[in-house]
Amino acid sequence: MLIQTAKRLLQGAILMSTLAAAAIHAAPRDLIIDTDPGADDVVALFLAMASPDELKIRAITTVAGNVRLDKTSRNARLAREWAGREDIPVYAGAGRPLVRTPIYAADVHGEEGLTGVPVHEPKQGLAKGNAVQYLVDTLANAEPHSVTLAMLGPQTNLALALIQQPDIVKGIKEVVIMGGAHFNGGNITPVAEFNLYADPHAAEVVLGSGVKLTYLPLDVTHKVITSDARLKQLAAVGNGASQKVVDILNAYIKYDMDKYGMTGGPVHDATVIAYLLKPELFSGKQIHMTVDSREGPTFAQTVADWYGVLKQPANVMWIENGDAQGFFDLLSTRLARLK
Ligand code: BDR
Ligand code: CA
Repeated sequence: MLIQTAKRLLQGAILMSTLAAAAIHAAPRDLIIDTDPGADDVVALFLAMASPDELKIRAITTVAGNVRLDKTSRNARLAREWAGREDIPVYAGAGRPLVRTPIYAADVHGEEGLTGVPVHEPKQGLAKGNAVQYLVDTLANAEPHSVTLAMLGPQTNLALALIQQPDIVKGIKEVVIMGGAHFNGGNITPVAEFNLYADPHAAEVVLGSGVKLTYLPLDVTHKVITSDARLKQLAAVGNGASQKVVDILNAYIKYDMDKYGMTGGPVHDATVIAYLLKPELFSGKQIHMTVDSREGPTFAQTVADWYGVLKQPANVMWIENGDAQGFFDLLSTRLARLK
């Protein structure tokens, strides 16, 4: 009798702790997405907005990058409207980089910053206030190390927030960045990737702040590429969101396929969201990295010490490989949850 009661109590305790662990595991991650939409940014936004169980998107903050700030901000609001997620505020931020002259990528993303789909003025406007002040206020008042930032464009907004109030780092859990290149080489100069080249000084500020950083550089995004079968897989989802993604990608991938002779095109920024949802799809290692902000041929290069030859302490997680089919399986499954 006594043994049976003890057994039941033990079983109950095990069940309680399993449920508690599941509850902890299930709590969605507090996330701010900083972005310059951008075709691949919009795919990233769809993936994130379709994943409310894992990601609590507190806000989308926009920055000038692929196109001017007014267009990146409009495109972010369009993505939100298409995904039926008008509950998420969109704050506009920096209209130009910290130091360098602005550059854009309309040759890749089109004059409107969005390939393959018509654009219009979305019904809902921007949130009141500036993205930089939003970041300062939110991170300063957040629980310690509670907010994740997904950085999908030049890092100007976060750099400005860190310059304004350095102690906001205490509110940050981690920062996951699409940017940089090492093994792959650059896509805007022989050694520089666009987001770093657009504002290397901002990337230096973020790197120097001591926050936990993960980089998804071209090394990985050029391995996670489309194929005809993968585009058919997305189209087979058969809803409005998947059709938008297919239309956007069909137009967007042409540029990289022609330029690099690749068999498919990358969806750079969406790998950041996939990493947050399913880190097991990716591999990399902790390394020491610096950003070269000196004028010259190596301007904005990410100097990634993959083999640790400099014997410097690691300051970033550098993602080097990804499961391409796993990524497209995740994207299709999540798009199926939208309309
Ligand atoms: C990065 O540059 C931008 O054009 C894309 O949106 C992506 O963030 C790829 O180099
Ligand atoms: Ca981007």
